[in-house]
Amino acid sequence: MRTNDAQFLVLSALADGPLHGYAVNAAIERTAGERLGQGSLYGALSRLEGKGLVEPDSAGAATARRRPMRLTDAGRAELDRGLRAMSQVFEASAPGRAEYLDRAAASEAGRAYKPLLLDALDIGPTHTVLDLGCGTGADLPAMAAAAAHVIGLDSDPDMAATAAARTGLDVVHGDAHALPFAESTVDRVRTDRVLQHVDDPTVVLAEAMRVLRPGGRLVTGEPDWETLAIDHPRPELATAYTRFVVEKVIRNPTIGRQLHRLAENAGFDVPTVIPVTPTFRDPHTADQIFGFQRTTRRAVDAGYMTPDDGEEWLGALKAGPFLATVVQWVTVAVVPAGGEG
Ligand SMILES: C[S@@+](CC[C@H](N)C(=O)[O-])C[C@H]1O[C@@H](n2cnc3c(N)ncnc32)[C@H](O)[C@@H]1O
Repeated sequence: MRTNDAQFLVLSALADGPLHGYAVNAAIERTAGERLGQGSLYGALSRLEGKGLVEPDSAGAATARRRPMRLTDAGRAELDRGLRAMSQVFEASAPGRAEYLDRAAASEAGRAYKPLLLDALDIGPTHTVLDLGCGTGADLPAMAAAAAHVIGLDSDPDMAATAAARTGLDVVHGDAHALPFAESTVDRVRTDRVLQHVDDPTVVLAEAMRVLRPGGRLVTGEPDWETLAIDHPRPELATAYTRFVVEKVIRNPTIGRQLHRLAENAGFDVPTVIPVTPTFRDPHTADQIFGFQRTTRRAVDAGYMTPDDGEEWLGALKAGPFLATVVQWVTVAVVPAGGEG
């Protein structure tokens, strides 16, 4: 048994109150099915005492050999952290796409910027609004509440069908590179984490320009994956992980920072760009967006990390404390009133 495992078992055994060495080992046997050797037990107790995680229980009757020990506040915090890490094993397999999008929309990160996108759209009661890459349609009802007509569009037929069934709103199966709408028929267009995936964002911008009326508005919420910053005791592993995501996972990884320029080049005015920085403090929540286990396995297979580094990378992320951020750019682009569209 590894030293840290023995210490963790001792901390767990003391969770319900002070015990002396023999009773600690009996408690360990009840939960783990085996006792620690005398050397491991007293070694673990003395190391934990040295770290201030356990201390003699002054209230208990002590003799030299039967000295009851108890958790300190720091020991209880360490035990909680270990238990959290054990229960937060990262997902090994990918969730369904619809489930993934539902989770992302409901996450703290999603809630941090989606209202901002809605505000930036500035939807009026006579407007027709087009949500390009609507996914499961999570945001269609909020837009529909403010508009005359909302249309979702997605290139994945399952997504389009799910969005239509869930919302009862108009949803089209189609490609954002070739919109099935006449020119100057739409007042608002939105993308939320879609342009990062498309073949050619400039074609999609040109299509948005074509279908929007003069004075119409495109609002995009798109990430910049080069800003993915994950704290780790070995920062070089975080750099390797981000490089892998940028180079191998996302088709247009830095689209968020480029959109102000690409939109101007497409003929839009760009009055506003807002960087939003969702911050993740809980590895389990972050994993639901990032899929650490799967992505790390791919990074190892692609040679961005050694297998040992991959283990070390995941181990520290699971154990916490955890911190990750990625910048999500909200860009507002307006068709000039004179009408280039
Ligand atoms: C990350 S999801 C975001 C979904 C939704 N916007 C949301 O906020 O929940 C990206 C969506 O874009 C769609 N998509 C990707 N490429 C597309 C394209 N060329 N045309 C239309 N939809 C596309 C995908 O099928 C997927 O549903």
